[in-house]
Amino acid sequence: MKNVLAIYPGSFDPVTNGHLDLIDRGAKIFDRLTVSILRNLDKDPLFTLEERVEMLREVTQPWPNVEVDVFSGLLVEYAQLRDANVILRGIRAVSDYEYELQMAMMNRKLNPNLETVFMMPAVAYSFLSSRLVREIAQLGGPMTGLVPPAVEQRLRAKVL
Ligand code: PNS
Repeated sequence: MKNVLAIYPGSFDPVTNGHLDLIDRGAKIFDRLTVSILRNLDKDPLFTLEERVEMLREVTQPWPNVEVDVFSGLLVEYAQLRDANVILRGIRAVSDYEYELQMAMMNRKLNPNLETVFMMPAVAYSFLSSRLVREIAQLGGPMTGLVPPAVEQRLRAKVL
């Protein structure tokens, strides 16, 4: 495959150092990587879509082949629209595997030409999730090493 565009989809509420670790790994092996935030009307996010886009754009600046986008509807349809060849997802622990496998297989059924590629973040991030970060922030706990400084600032401001 030449000029491979990978899409890294997710909620990113907010982006964590674990996401950035995966973005770094993905940016090294794919020609282009688009981090795509799902516009999910069912979920009640802590950060608005616009805030999440802003934060992701800010923290992905070091990678010239990474861009940030937003999508709604079916991931496979969005990927086709973007002419993407790959869906990138992270697997932190065995507990992620079942849900990720189910999604990957369903996406394959919906579009057999789209490959899901799983990557593992560094062990240091294997326990990290946006949900836990939100909880720690809301309870006033330390966020050192969990999120980039720009995100930590926004979290602190959000939960004041
Ligand atoms: O960060 P998340 O919340 O684990 O990301 C989940 C996401 C956005 C990858 C998933 O919910 C998704 O792809 N939603 C789009 C709708 C869709 O295509 N659903 C069918 C999946 S098999």
